[in-house]
Amino acid sequence: MSIGDRLEGKRVVICAGSGGVGKTTTSAAIALGLAAQGKRVAVVTIDPARRLADALGLDELDNEPRQVDPARLTGHGLELTGELWAMQLDAKRTFDELITKLSPDDKTREEVLDNRIYQELSSAVAGSQEFTAIAKLYELDSEGNYDAIVLDTPPSRNALDFLEAPDRLTGFFEGRALRMFLAPTGIAAKVVGAGTGVVFSVLKRVTGVDLLSDLSVFFRALGGLIDGFRERAAGVKAILGDPATTFLVVTSPEREPVTEAIYFRGKLRDADMPFGGLVVNRVHVRAAKEEDPDDVRAALVEELGEALAAKVATTLREQQLLAARDEAAVQRLSRETGDEDPVIVPLLDGDVHDVDGLVAIHRHLFASGRERDALLAAAAY
Ligand SMILES: Nc1ncnc2c1ncn2[C@@H]1O[C@H](COP(=O)(O)OP(=O)(O)OP(=O)(O)O)[C@@H](O)[C@H]1O
Ligand SMILES: [Mg+2]
Repeated sequence: MSIGDRLEGKRVVICAGSGGVGKTTTSAAIALGLAAQGKRVAVVTIDPARRLADALGLDELDNEPRQVDPARLTGHGLELTGELWAMQLDAKRTFDELITKLSPDDKTREEVLDNRIYQELSSAVAGSQEFTAIAKLYELDSEGNYDAIVLDTPPSRNALDFLEAPDRLTGFFEGRALRMFLAPTGIAAKVVGAGTGVVFSVLKRVTGVDLLSDLSVFFRALGGLIDGFRERAAGVKAILGDPATTFLVVTSPEREPVTEAIYFRGKLRDADMPFGGLVVNRVHVRAAKEEDPDDVRAALVEELGEALAAKVATTLREQQLLAARDEAAVQRLSRETGDEDPVIVPLLDGDVHDVDGLVAIHRHLFASGRERDALLAAAAY
């Protein structure tokens, strides 16, 4: 089944998968395809390759989707009747905007945003990209300006980080640790009261950093945001479980990403989250009828000479081995995820860093029936 069929009636599409498998590329190509169907589409990319960002005219200073100039997208063999809006996520700014929205008043907002602990935390927390991607999704979804939102996910080694991010963060805010810290007799109070205060005041004298007051302001101000965070978390859960939301699991045919894709699919099932299917990217496609490399060599000897013809035969043999390996990987993925007909995107000759490249990927994603067979056959060894 093509991506077009799979995404019928979906409003939120999340592309998840291991690092480097093609999540960003796939997200952009899907958004392009949905825009070609006449939709107004926003794609949220995360750290796109510089050249891809340039190709889409993505301004990294922006933390809102901007419409991709239709002139950039015409003349590449794809007619866009809809609109493509794209942005690259700025985790820190998304976090700041979230604090701004959740703050009950200006004072709380400034206290948090100006706070040194917050500043360190918001830019340093490794999981904040996962969390902020979801926060951005929530925001765009509730604004209701788009027919479809395509969300790229961060290059975490483990795709599960993304799924667990909202829970981990609200867990932190709701958790015992923070409550204990905030309680009148909690750690904060003890720290002030106990001898530790001396350490902080020495620190302050030596470094000029008033860590203790930073810490207590930080936790007090954050305390005021807990309800807002909790509400958001519930909203995010609702989006992730919505029938109009779907997760596409992107993978390459290599062993590790495949194992992770299978695991992730299981986790989606456990969490009752919608699985839209597999995209197996960068596949060496196996020809329906493989040519015998020895025959190829024999046929080329006259024209290319013995040495070159042998090289061609060797290369063909290697490609066929890779194609056999990838075919086995796709079969394993099918078997273990229950997706009987994963979308296959062949390994293209070069990187995908311009509109032509995206259109090529898009074609593989959206083709169906005979067109799809023909495209795959053309890419096969
Ligand atoms: N089908 C393909 N054929 C050839 N190159 C591809 C294909 N798909 C993606 N690429 C290239 O592979 C590289 C990784 O792709 P991409 O950045 O989309 O992966 P990612 O999953 O988003 O990575 P990360 O986890 O680091 O964010 C890029 O250079 C991209 O141009
Ligand atoms: Mg990426």
